[in-house]
Amino acid sequence: MKELSIESKLYVFDNLEALPEQVYNLMLQAFEARKKAYAPYSQFQVGAALLLDNGEIILGNNQENASYPSGLCAERTAIYYAGAQFPEAKMLQMAISAGSLKKETTEPIPPCGACRQAIAEYEIKQESPIEIYFMGHSGKVVKSHSLENLLPLMFNKEAL
Ligand code: THU
Repeated sequence: MKELSIESKLYVFDNLEALPEQVYNLMLQAFEARKKAYAPYSQFQVGAALLLDNGEIILGNNQENASYPSGLCAERTAIYYAGAQFPEAKMLQMAISAGSLKKETTEPIPPCGACRQAIAEYEIKQESPIEIYFMGHSGKVVKSHSLENLLPLMFNKEAL
Protein backbone atom coordinates (compact mmCIF):
# COMPACT_ATOMS: atom_id res chain seq x y z
CA MET A 1 0.00 0.00 0.00
CA LYS A 2 1.21 3.46 -0.87
CA GLU A 3 0.15 6.67 0.82
CA LEU A 4 -0.73 9.55 -1.46
CA SER A 5 -1.33 13.07 -0.29
CA ILE A 6 -3.03 15.87 -2.15
CA GLU A 7 -2.25 19.50 -1.51
CA SER A 8 -4.60 22.39 -2.16
CA LYS A 9 -3.36 25.94 -1.81
CA LEU A 10 -5.71 28.74 -0.85
CA TYR A 11 -4.95 32.43 -0.47
CA VAL A 12 -6.74 34.47 2.17
CA PHE A 13 -7.41 38.22 1.92
CA ASP A 14 -8.26 39.92 5.22
CA ASN A 15 -11.29 41.69 3.80
CA LEU A 16 -12.99 42.87 0.63
CA GLU A 17 -10.83 45.98 0.41
CA ALA A 18 -7.66 43.87 0.26
CA LEU A 19 -8.70 42.40 -3.12
CA PRO A 20 -7.20 43.63 -6.39
CA GLU A 21 -9.51 46.28 -7.86
CA GLN A 22 -10.99 44.15 -10.64
CA VAL A 23 -11.86 41.29 -8.28
CA TYR A 24 -13.18 43.77 -5.72
CA ASN A 25 -15.61 45.05 -8.36
CA LEU A 26 -16.58 41.52 -9.32
CA MET A 27 -17.28 40.69 -5.67
CA LEU A 28 -19.46 43.80 -5.34
CA GLN A 29 -21.52 42.43 -8.23
CA ALA A 30 -21.78 39.10 -6.41
CA PHE A 31 -23.14 41.07 -3.41
CA GLU A 32 -25.81 42.65 -5.60
CA ALA A 33 -26.73 39.27 -7.07
CA ARG A 34 -26.93 37.77 -3.57
CA LYS A 35 -29.43 40.38 -2.46
CA LYS A 36 -31.75 39.32 -5.29
CA ALA A 37 -31.62 35.61 -4.44
CA TYR A 38 -34.90 33.76 -4.06
CA ALA A 39 -34.34 31.85 -0.83
CA PRO A 40 -37.61 31.82 1.14
CA TYR A 41 -37.03 28.34 2.53
CA SER A 42 -33.43 28.40 3.71
CA GLN A 43 -33.14 32.15 4.28
CA PHE A 44 -29.63 31.68 2.98
CA GLN A 45 -28.71 33.82 0.03
CA VAL A 46 -25.83 33.27 -2.37
CA GLY A 47 -24.65 35.47 -5.23
CA ALA A 48 -22.11 34.66 -7.91
CA ALA A 49 -20.47 36.92 -10.48
CA LEU A 50 -18.60 35.28 -13.33
CA LEU A 51 -16.16 37.20 -15.54
CA LEU A 52 -15.76 35.94 -19.13
CA ASP A 53 -12.87 36.65 -21.48
CA ASN A 54 -15.21 38.65 -23.75
CA GLY A 55 -15.74 41.13 -20.90
CA GLU A 56 -19.23 39.93 -20.00
CA ILE A 57 -20.06 39.49 -16.33
CA ILE A 58 -22.71 36.86 -15.68
CA LEU A 59 -24.62 37.05 -12.41
CA GLY A 60 -26.44 34.23 -10.66
CA ASN A 61 -28.12 33.64 -7.35
CA ASN A 62 -29.83 30.72 -5.68
CA GLN A 63 -33.37 29.99 -6.80
CA GLU A 64 -35.29 27.83 -4.37
CA ASN A 65 -38.44 25.83 -4.92
CA ALA A 66 -41.24 24.46 -2.73
CA SER A 67 -40.10 21.10 -4.06
CA TYR A 68 -36.70 21.59 -2.42
CA PRO A 69 -34.43 19.57 -4.74
CA SER A 70 -35.77 21.50 -7.74
CA GLY A 71 -33.97 24.64 -6.58
CA LEU A 72 -30.56 25.63 -7.91
CA CYS A 73 -27.44 27.13 -6.37
CA ALA A 74 -26.12 30.53 -7.39
CA GLU A 75 -22.92 29.19 -8.92
CA ARG A 76 -24.71 26.79 -11.22
CA THR A 77 -27.31 29.40 -12.18
CA ALA A 78 -24.43 31.63 -13.33
CA ILE A 79 -22.26 29.00 -14.96
CA TYR A 80 -25.08 27.37 -16.92
CA TYR A 81 -26.30 30.74 -18.13
CA ALA A 82 -22.76 31.57 -19.30
CA GLY A 83 -22.46 28.17 -20.97
CA ALA A 84 -25.80 28.65 -22.70
CA GLN A 85 -25.33 32.27 -23.75
CA PHE A 86 -21.61 32.46 -24.52
CA PRO A 87 -20.46 28.93 -25.37
CA GLU A 88 -17.24 30.17 -27.01
CA ALA A 89 -16.13 32.42 -24.16
CA LYS A 90 -13.63 31.36 -21.53
CA MET A 91 -14.56 31.77 -17.90
CA LEU A 92 -11.85 33.65 -16.01
CA GLN A 93 -12.99 34.38 -12.47
CA MET A 94 -15.96 33.67 -10.25
CA ALA A 95 -16.69 35.72 -7.12
CA ILE A 96 -19.14 34.28 -4.60
CA SER A 97 -20.76 35.89 -1.58
CA ALA A 98 -23.06 33.89 0.67
CA GLY A 99 -24.90 34.58 3.89
CA SER A 100 -27.88 34.01 6.09
CA LEU A 101 -30.78 36.44 6.27
CA LYS A 102 -30.94 35.63 10.00
CA LYS A 103 -27.42 36.66 10.98
CA GLU A 104 -24.29 38.32 9.69
CA THR A 105 -22.17 35.68 7.95
CA THR A 106 -18.53 36.54 8.51
CA GLU A 107 -16.88 33.26 7.47
CA PRO A 108 -16.02 32.54 3.83
CA ILE A 109 -18.58 30.11 2.36
CA PRO A 110 -17.11 27.76 -0.26
CA PRO A 111 -19.17 26.44 -3.19
CA CYS A 112 -20.93 23.13 -2.54
CA GLY A 113 -19.71 19.88 -4.04
CA ALA A 114 -22.31 19.79 -6.80
CA CYS A 115 -21.35 23.31 -7.90
CA ARG A 116 -17.67 22.40 -7.87
CA GLN A 117 -18.39 19.49 -10.18
CA ALA A 118 -20.45 21.73 -12.48
CA ILE A 119 -17.76 24.41 -12.64
CA ALA A 120 -15.09 21.75 -13.19
CA GLU A 121 -16.80 20.70 -16.41
CA TYR A 122 -16.18 24.13 -17.94
CA GLU A 123 -12.63 24.34 -16.65
CA ILE A 124 -11.88 21.05 -18.42
CA LYS A 125 -13.76 22.14 -21.55
CA GLN A 126 -11.86 25.40 -21.89
CA GLU A 127 -8.50 23.94 -20.82
CA SER A 128 -7.69 26.87 -18.58
CA PRO A 129 -8.26 27.56 -14.90
CA ILE A 130 -11.18 29.49 -13.43
CA GLU A 131 -10.16 31.51 -10.37
CA ILE A 132 -12.63 31.24 -7.51
CA TYR A 133 -13.04 33.85 -4.76
CA PHE A 134 -15.52 33.27 -1.93
CA MET A 135 -16.65 35.07 1.20
CA GLY A 136 -19.60 35.62 3.54
CA HIS A 137 -21.37 38.97 3.90
CA SER A 138 -18.13 40.40 5.23
CA GLY A 139 -14.79 39.23 6.57
CA LYS A 140 -12.07 37.23 4.89
CA VAL A 141 -12.06 36.37 1.20
CA VAL A 142 -10.56 33.07 0.08
CA LYS A 143 -9.01 32.65 -3.36
CA SER A 144 -8.42 29.38 -5.18
CA HIS A 145 -6.37 29.68 -8.38
CA SER A 146 -8.52 27.02 -10.06
CA LEU A 147 -11.58 24.91 -9.53
CA GLU A 148 -9.52 21.74 -9.71
CA ASN A 149 -7.68 22.96 -6.62
CA LEU A 150 -11.04 22.83 -4.78
CA LEU A 151 -12.05 19.45 -6.19
CA PRO A 152 -9.12 17.09 -6.34
CA LEU A 153 -9.93 13.70 -7.87
CA MET A 154 -12.80 15.21 -9.81
CA PHE A 155 -14.85 13.00 -12.06
CA ASN A 156 -14.19 13.98 -15.64
CA LYS A 157 -15.00 12.95 -19.17
CA GLU A 158 -11.76 10.96 -19.56
CA ALA A 159 -13.52 8.21 -17.59
CA LEU A 160 -16.41 7.89 -20.06
N1 THU B 1 -26.41 27.35 -2.05
C1 THU B 1 -25.82 27.96 -3.12
O1 THU B 1 -26.45 28.76 -3.83
N2 THU B 1 -24.55 27.67 -3.37
C2 THU B 1 -23.78 26.80 -2.66
O2 THU B 1 -22.65 26.51 -3.04
C3 THU B 1 -24.31 26.22 -1.43
C4 THU B 1 -25.75 26.43 -1.17
C5 THU B 1 -27.83 27.64 -1.78
C6 THU B 1 -28.75 26.49 -2.03
C7 THU B 1 -29.91 26.81 -1.12
O3 THU B 1 -30.80 27.67 -1.80
C8 THU B 1 -29.27 27.56 0.03
O4 THU B 1 -28.00 27.98 -0.42
C9 THU B 1 -29.11 26.74 1.29
O5 THU B 1 -28.47 25.54 1.03
